[in-house]
Amino acid sequence: MGRSSRWYVGTDRNAYIHRAWMRRGLPSRAFEGRPQIAIANTASDLVPCNMHLDEVAEHVKRGVWEAGGVPLNLPVVSLGETQVRPTAMLWRNMAAMATEEMLRANPIDGVVLLGGCDKTIPALLMAAASVDLPAVVVPGGPMLTGHFRGRPLGCGTDVWRLSEEVRGGRLSEAEFLRSESSMIRSKGHCNTMGTASTMGLLAEALGMTLPGLAGTPAPDSRLLAGAHESGGLVVEMVAADRRPSVVLTRASFSNAIVALAAIGGSTNAVVHLLAIAGRLGVELTLDDFDRIGSGVPLLVDLQPAGRHLMDDLYRAGGLHAVLHQVRDLLDPEAITVTGRPLVDHLDEATIHDGDVIRTRDQPVLHDAGIAVLYGNLAPDGAVIKPAAASSHLLKHRGAALVFDSVEDLHARLDDPDLDVTPDSVLILRGCGPKGYPGMPEVANLPLPPKLLAQGVRDMVRICDGRMSGTAYGTVVLHVAPEAAAGGPLAKVRTGDMIILDVPGRRLDIDIPDEKLAAREPAPAAVNAFARPSRGWQRLYLETVQQANTGADLDFLVGSSGDHVPRESH
Ligand code: FES
Repeated sequence: MGRSSRWYVGTDRNAYIHRAWMRRGLPSRAFEGRPQIAIANTASDLVPCNMHLDEVAEHVKRGVWEAGGVPLNLPVVSLGETQVRPTAMLWRNMAAMATEEMLRANPIDGVVLLGGCDKTIPALLMAAASVDLPAVVVPGGPMLTGHFRGRPLGCGTDVWRLSEEVRGGRLSEAEFLRSESSMIRSKGHCNTMGTASTMGLLAEALGMTLPGLAGTPAPDSRLLAGAHESGGLVVEMVAADRRPSVVLTRASFSNAIVALAAIGGSTNAVVHLLAIAGRLGVELTLDDFDRIGSGVPLLVDLQPAGRHLMDDLYRAGGLHAVLHQVRDLLDPEAITVTGRPLVDHLDEATIHDGDVIRTRDQPVLHDAGIAVLYGNLAPDGAVIKPAAASSHLLKHRGAALVFDSVEDLHARLDDPDLDVTPDSVLILRGCGPKGYPGMPEVANLPLPPKLLAQGVRDMVRICDGRMSGTAYGTVVLHVAPEAAAGGPLAKVRTGDMIILDVPGRRLDIDIPDEKLAAREPAPAAVNAFARPSRGWQRLYLETVQQANTGADLDFLVGSSGDHVPRESH
């Protein structure tokens, strides 16, 4: 008998109440030991990338019914990356906590997780890991490719590119605005290798989706068929007692890191994977991303680092074709929601378009992955994605130009008298988990117009915030500890010499340690944000951890399992 039978089975008053209020057309046999399957559904009219998930949920329901389960739609906190202020990341942990608690509080035996937009799949996976009920992810899928003036548009990436062209005087504002209606062609999430695409694909690399489903475009009928199959699969998982804790092992995180490198995925995946691992007690560190991922070849030529878009990746063979090329780097022990190892599902995988997915011997880049930097400017680490950076800047020494906040940046950046050269190192602080708060995607700060006009296209930038997965440039991110938590970033002054050495994995300020230790942090860097006195933001500020461990709340790390709470009456 499943967990839900503790609500429904029996002749006492409480079982009567639990059944009676659910009788809205359900037959009596629905309460006689059938698996009750929640569909944790992030559909919302305010989350444009997930708007279509109600339709997907209907197909999950068919699969659950067909397999003998009872499907139950469970709307959960949803986060729209483009709509939510100050940043969706501020609410990721709240969405995870609320979903975890609602799964535990209800008569649920298993769950199908419907996500898409950036934070939704990470939050759902964190919740599923903590409640540890049989769970399968159905990624909502990317949108189809839009075009403008005959050119494909990558959402996100091309917004940055076109807006820089306006700032550089190479595109009129009228043309820029004309492109707006071409950007979003269909339902689905961003079509570049941004965070949503990355986390959908990594959910599969972790073993948490029906094999072959991740990356299916949102309008594609095969997504609905996969949703149907996923509904049946979770019923089978409940019978087999196959829980996230047996799927999400160190081996599966290792596979996800290999996949992250091979697809050229978003740096945001580092923070999300660390947080998910933290929910399971899996020993995963920042250094694992460098150690496991850095020798992996980049095989996918997608924006923002490359040319193509998610629709092309699916047509070219999808994630399985990519993983087939690096099969020897995958851990064969890691199983998927099917109960079989991930590597077993790769036998049939084929590349159908070698322009989009490269073979191992002709990669886009030989060494991809994420480089983890340490030094007196980042004692607990910082990350950079070399594939998205300019090779001539990977070893660089330059004078710091410091901005204490995004507002400070916007107030001064366009000043024609700004004292900046192409060798300057732009530093933006006050953007970490505590500083903003919420660690927004502002690290790819725009370049000063006076340098854009000179043809400068990239500069070294350093920030304690994150960068959109759709962005690019020589950007050092996730500096830990952040300025607002007392990190040395708060002590940097404009004019200090900064040394970036990506091959040597160093990020330093060229000041003797004793002199740096004696410096006071800049007050504006530490107190950029007025401390809230109540609500989620207060809880968040008091308990959020730093980026190098996943920016989860300290009391949410770990699992509470699926215990059945005491009766309500
Ligand atoms: Fe939702 Fe990009 S805004 S995935």
